[in-house]
Amino acid sequence: MTPPDYEYLRKLLKDHSGLDLSADKQYLIESRLLPLARKAGLPGIGELVQKMKGGAGSVIGQVVEAMTTNETFFFRDKIPFDHFREAVMPEILKARAGRKSIRIWCAAGSTGQEPYSLAMCLKEMSAALTGWRVEILATDLSQEVIEKSKAGIYSQFEVQRGLPIQMLVKYFKQNGELWQVNADVRAMIQHRQLNLLHDFSQLGVFDVIFCRNVLIYFDQDTKINIFNRLAKSTEPDGFLALGAAETVVGLTDVYKPFPERRGLYRPTGLHAVPKTPGAAAPKLAAMAGH
Ligand SMILES: C[S@@+](CC[C@H](N)C(=O)[O-])C[C@H]1O[C@@H](n2cnc3c(N)ncnc32)[C@H](O)[C@@H]1O
Repeated sequence: MTPPDYEYLRKLLKDHSGLDLSADKQYLIESRLLPLARKAGLPGIGELVQKMKGGAGSVIGQVVEAMTTNETFFFRDKIPFDHFREAVMPEILKARAGRKSIRIWCAAGSTGQEPYSLAMCLKEMSAALTGWRVEILATDLSQEVIEKSKAGIYSQFEVQRGLPIQMLVKYFKQNGELWQVNADVRAMIQHRQLNLLHDFSQLGVFDVIFCRNVLIYFDQDTKINIFNRLAKSTEPDGFLALGAAETVVGLTDVYKPFPERRGLYRPTGLHAVPKTPGAAAPKLAAMAGH
């Protein structure tokens, strides 16, 4: 791959998905895109770039999808789900006792293990949720992973990663080598393709947002921009859960860490003021409510 082709792909990926590749990730591009080029009958990445420059929109979409990392598993990192059961849900059950509804958003849900883990947590507390309206929205940039998430079909290997055996037995049906999430659990989740770089205000406001292991791939300005918009989509008394290597600290004041609960954040009610030219960091202004 020539240096100009690499620069072209880096910029394209940053613009389309937020992926911020450092200058030395040629091997990553080659390992992910060479199979794509070959499948399209092209000898190499140079020819793939030529095709994209020629305006082949579908190829751009395939390149962006091929470069996303979809790694996920059930109850990944365990702790966020302990927080959800022990800190988030008890508060929500009290705070929403009047309207009896909860909205949860998995903002980069990948192949579904994360939203289904949350759905199973909620099933386990179904006695407390009788009569409640529970909404879980799973979104992702990649249509391919959304299709897999919707189907809720997993291999033996996938169900052995993180999923307690009792939950496998209780919430899945075996079909040969594969396991499918039961229809009532699948029905708890709505799916939608969504790029976090784009406006998502139309989704409304959520009590809980899981946005884990995606911002890690983005540069600082992109992270700040997404945090600031996520805060507007979080109820004032709602929650944000991030991945183990992600934080808002040092980036924005629109969320603050929840004490003693690593990776869990709450909105502060401060809203970022758009960056003015020459300003070093976004200024914050206190606003009443959202
Ligand atoms: C590593 S997976 C994380 C999945 C899950 N949240 C977890 O923690 O296990 C990252 C997901 O983010 C998605 N993604 C990447 N860029 C995105 C973007 N700009 N908007 C929305 N999703 C994106 C990828 O398609 C991928 O499925």
